[in-house]
Amino acid sequence: MISLGIETSCDETSVAVVKNARKVLSNEVASSIKFHKKYGGVIPEIASRMQLETISEVAASALQDARVKLKDIDLISVTCGPGLLGSLLVGISFAKSLSLSLGIPLLGVNHVHSHFYANFLQGKVINLPFVALVVSGGHTSLFYVRDFDRIEPLGQTYDDACGEAFDKVAKILGLGYPGGPLIERLALRGDPNSIKFNCSGTKNELDFSFSGIKTAVLYHIRKLEASRCSDMDKQIRNICASFQHTVVETLVKKAILACKLKKVKSLLLGGGVVANKSLRERFISAAVKEGLACHLPSLGICMDNAAMVAGLGSELFKKGHRSNLYLNAQLN
Ligand code: KG4
Ligand code: ZN
Repeated sequence: MISLGIETSCDETSVAVVKNARKVLSNEVASSIKFHKKYGGVIPEIASRMQLETISEVAASALQDARVKLKDIDLISVTCGPGLLGSLLVGISFAKSLSLSLGIPLLGVNHVHSHFYANFLQGKVINLPFVALVVSGGHTSLFYVRDFDRIEPLGQTYDDACGEAFDKVAKILGLGYPGGPLIERLALRGDPNSIKFNCSGTKNELDFSFSGIKTAVLYHIRKLEASRCSDMDKQIRNICASFQHTVVETLVKKAILACKLKKVKSLLLGGGVVANKSLRERFISAAVKEGLACHLPSLGICMDNAAMVAGLGSELFKKGHRSNLYLNAQLN
């Protein structure tokens, strides 16, 4: 079964071809990030205009890379939410036109679920049920997954998403956008134990909150500026290392607690923040200690991409799920 995936939930325009839910034949990703950089975040109007301009070209090269013709496609899987309204509508409208004109079944796929599905594209055997943690620029969610259509939310963020916190802290420190990779690089030369930050206290212990740590960074930097600190570069490296360390330890602690509460032996991660190397290393060592199998998507499929959408779409299609031409963007 050949599934064409379409992903336009944020600033990427991605189209992929996946065979039998697991084998990636192509995965084209065009990002408009360079047009957002100077604003310090994604501007929805710019993102959707770029997507409108590029989607046909991206789809054509995904088909060409996969050596597949439109007549070979059995399913069109498209991200229907959550995400930016205008961006989602570009992908959904494109998917609907293909479906209607070629008579190919259509299926709307949840973007957050597709992030942890990325692990199934790597040829590994993963047993159900499992706990999944998705940490991206828009979401921080823990799920108990019995099956691809039996997903129970266990926890989520009260405020900022984890990647959003990286982006906002980088902005406070004047580092640029997107913040995750910039903080990660500076953290390598900082002391993770130099500043005591905290982001683990939430009413439900499987929920998350990152706005407090972001404000703590802001107050810390203001204090340093007021004291005319002479070694600001070193202080910024220490802030990055301590912030990253605190966030990663909180994610590890809550994900492992979720596995214990649900009595599962597999933990799957997904989302852009999982590109962070110290997060990856820390999760692997914690999982070994707890006797858990920890699955991480390779760097190329942590970020938004359409292969994860095409794959999850196929699994749901096999279970009888279908969308029709009334498919609309689902913002939450
Ligand atoms: O999953 P994604 O591509 O888009 C959303 O669905 O939101 O994630 C993008 C987020 C951004 O906030 C970015 O700063 C963060 O992932 N990110 C990182 C790293 N690389 C990207 N965060 C921490 N460390 C990284 N190396
Ligand atoms: Zn995403």
